[in-house]
Amino acid sequence: MGNQAEDQDLSRRSAAIHSLQYLEPKMKVGLGTGTTAEALVREIQVRNLQEELDLTFVSTSTRTTKLSESLGLKISDLSEVRWLDLVLDGADEFDPDLNLIKGGGGALLQEKIVASSADSMKVIASITKKVDVLGKFPLPVEIVRFGCTSTIQRLDELFQFSGYSYSDRAMRNSGGNLFITDEGHFIVDYSFQEMNNPEGLEQAINQIVGVVDCGLFTGLCDEVITGSRDGFVEVFD
Ligand code: A5P
Repeated sequence: MGNQAEDQDLSRRSAAIHSLQYLEPKMKVGLGTGTTAEALVREIQVRNLQEELDLTFVSTSTRTTKLSESLGLKISDLSEVRWLDLVLDGADEFDPDLNLIKGGGGALLQEKIVASSADSMKVIASITKKVDVLGKFPLPVEIVRFGCTSTIQRLDELFQFSGYSYSDRAMRNSGGNLFITDEGHFIVDYSFQEMNNPEGLEQAINQIVGVVDCGLFTGLCDEVITGSRDGFVEVFD
């Protein structure tokens, strides 16, 4: 592993380890998706916390479910659990108001459903995810497959008329094929420069017919725990 990859690994792991202190007996907990969430899942397993604390887990993706179950953790269905105490998830960017861009791993829809079903959402991330203004990371928009070209045209018009010019737009690919989300949709990634009104933009995007959801998470996260390569942890709230 190169130095940069090792640094990222240490950063994620230190944030994940710090977040374990939020786990209390009998809690119902949402497990996020991505490399940081996976570091968390491994720490939970190594410390035998599901059994020790009698925790109920709900997952945000097939990927997280597979990893958790392969490590012996039990994953419950959100429809049965219904309400969660806490969700611990990663992010691609966060701003000073704790607005997020998520969905780099393609699980934004389930992540938002789980986060919206929890008393508290805490993000664990490398400090490199902190930005002054969201927008450098491409914004994923999940759209239904039917009529996707028309939906993309309406998205383009929205961005054009609301002054959000993008420098690039790309359908998400995986292994040479169009990426299909866990819920059977496409993702289109928009590269902006800066998003000055993430809340307004999230609402406007999500009103377009054919859009399922976008990777802007505003008003959902109450704390971000960051780790850095030297193991230093910071909490933003
Ligand atoms: C998954 O869809 C994403 O929202 C991830 O939470 C986000 O991409 C962060 O991933 P990493 O922890 O791998 O950086």
